[in-house]
Amino acid sequence: MSQESPSPTAAEREAYDKAFEQSVSDRDGFWLEAARLIEWIQPPSSAVDVSNSPHNRWFPDGKLNTCYNAVDRHVDSGRGEQAAIIYDSPVTGTTQTITYNELLARVSRLAGALQADGVRKGDRVVIYMPMIPEAIVAILACARIGAVHSVVFGGFAAPELAIRVDDAKPAVILTADGGIEPSRQVPYVPIIVKALELSRHTPTTVVVHERAEFGGGALPSGDEARGAAWVRWADFVDGAEAAVPEELDSADPLYILYTSGTTGMPKGVVRDNGGHAVALAWSMWNVYGISAGDVWWSASDVGWVVGHSYIVYAPLLIGATTVLYEGKPVGTPDAGAFWRVIAEHGVRAMFTAPTAIRAIRRVDPKGEEIGKYDLSKFETLFSAGERLDPETQTWAMDKLGKPVIDNWWQTETGWPLASNLRGLSPMPIKLGSPTVAVPGSDLVVLDGEGNEVAPGVEGNLAVRLPLAPGNMIGLWNDDERFVSSYMATFEGFYATGDGGYIDSDGYVFVMGRTDDVINVAGHRLSTGSIEAAIGVHDSVAEVAVIGVKDELKGQLPVGYVVLKSGVVADPATLRDELAALVREHIGAVASFRETHIVQGLPKTRSGKILRKTMRQIADGQSPSVPSTIEDPDVLDALAPILRGEAE
Ligand code: COA
Ligand code: AMP
Repeated sequence: MSQESPSPTAAEREAYDKAFEQSVSDRDGFWLEAARLIEWIQPPSSAVDVSNSPHNRWFPDGKLNTCYNAVDRHVDSGRGEQAAIIYDSPVTGTTQTITYNELLARVSRLAGALQADGVRKGDRVVIYMPMIPEAIVAILACARIGAVHSVVFGGFAAPELAIRVDDAKPAVILTADGGIEPSRQVPYVPIIVKALELSRHTPTTVVVHERAEFGGGALPSGDEARGAAWVRWADFVDGAEAAVPEELDSADPLYILYTSGTTGMPKGVVRDNGGHAVALAWSMWNVYGISAGDVWWSASDVGWVVGHSYIVYAPLLIGATTVLYEGKPVGTPDAGAFWRVIAEHGVRAMFTAPTAIRAIRRVDPKGEEIGKYDLSKFETLFSAGERLDPETQTWAMDKLGKPVIDNWWQTETGWPLASNLRGLSPMPIKLGSPTVAVPGSDLVVLDGEGNEVAPGVEGNLAVRLPLAPGNMIGLWNDDERFVSSYMATFEGFYATGDGGYIDSDGYVFVMGRTDDVINVAGHRLSTGSIEAAIGVHDSVAEVAVIGVKDELKGQLPVGYVVLKSGVVADPATLRDELAALVREHIGAVASFRETHIVQGLPKTRSGKILRKTMRQIADGQSPSVPSTIEDPDVLDALAPILRGEAE
């Protein structure tokens, strides 16, 4: 596979240029045509209402039901016996195929049970589930009745769940006995009990799906129930009538997905129904080259945005088959797991995170496992969640002999901001670049004052408003934060929080966050919330957490703590205690292990900790030290520790 970086020819980019241009200059023409991919109860007559920008509404007069489009429609059109979901779970030794007919039966029954429990359009339902088919059933059941789902990643600990419960105020929590990690079982019931002890809000009902691996057992009652009625899933749906799809406005909320901001309080990204359905359906062929009847696999988790969009909604919206994989890239049982799944289920294209590829490469550097499987149906490997570094991309392309395509996006955008459009207009791959702006997302690079910079010059990546359909329509219950976090920095633009540049071919290069958000093994975390967890420790006066480069996980959080005056602590004991605190408050996914005790933290005169400067030193870059630094000696004393030259 070529490793040069050729520019696309005029012919190669013709379809892309035409689509992109129309998508931003003739929105009605482009997006109303795309809207025909969806079956509307009332088709929209215009693409987007920008009269209250940045609170824009896509397909303002359209009415639809997303679940109907993802399930019923395919049954009606003769796909009822086609596989909708292939559940492949090496951690339980299970493989199961669920047809569209079965999916419809399960979704409409759960939807009916939720209605019988009093859940109505607009009510919230928190879904805290492992990677089992019921997680998808739960999501779609909410969409069917217009309840707003909020999926919380199963790797988050009780306090993180409690924060989300308090913000979303769910009527019901749908969960299961627990998740299964290769090394251990993770029981969810105690986590929910603890979360409800911490939260002010109480849901009326907690529904627990029984998993054979956990052996059943009584559900919480009395004080332990924390005021909620706990019921087994099978009992909850027993005798429930099938619910019909609710008629929803295009702009009605479909879901809330919390993501890390720069503070400890996550942001509740809100997605609509109409814009989301159209964008995702459009993306499946145009971006991924996938059509109805194809098998598609996204090796993410339903708790992340990639999981929402590309495990659940997008493949089902177009009548494809989605693989739901409960396992890891390595160790379940070996580094050939991905290739086995691809071969066994005839996967045409898949999504994964660079970390997963690096993990496979570490165990199987020569790619010997690849040769053991028939990958003849497999066409493309897509990567998202973090920057796809050229070394990993080259390795995967060489070993697989297939294109490996980087996608740049965020929870906020719901689908890529930049990608190579494999269906619409495949273009040459430039290593280190997710290729070009996806139609609908008018990307620019701005300097600190909001002026567009020349090609090749690094700055802030931003999107000219309105955001594309499928991007967030707001933050749950917080219009002010929606504007102040994203729309106020550069008037008329959405600030992505990522820095980078666009070259003269329009290829985007994303260099990393410009704020304190970090990315650990494709998991987005806020250093602020890790600091808050560490700050609870009795000995800690002050702490700064930064993300430092890691060969496997991309970044790892490292803590630099200043002890309270007079406190003497054994470094190893403190390190273990802080690691335990972060696990307890945020979850094991934070992978927080390393702590350094330091004498002071570098700050500006207004007291802001210079995390970026610290990160640059830790990563071996030349640091940018602001002129407003309070005491340069503090930074000088810290530098050898940051560089790993001193303890
Ligand atoms: N529930 C409970 N715990 C979870 C969890 C979940 N859903 N997911 C991860 N964890 C735990 C793990 O068990 C591990 O715990 P440990 O520290 O006790 O071993 C910890 O969180 C860190 O997990 P992880 O980041 O998965 O690291 P790992 O070392 O177990 O595995 C990889 C490394 C590369 C295999 C793994 O990070 C991976 O598959 N990454 C890809 C992630 C991805 O697809 N992200 C989606 C973005 S699109
Ligand atoms: P999340 O909201 O969890 O999807 O994380 C979004 C953040 O991950 C982005 O703001 C980027 O910092 C980073 N990210 C995701 N995909 C890429 C990519 N392809 N290249 C570079 N950074 C990425």
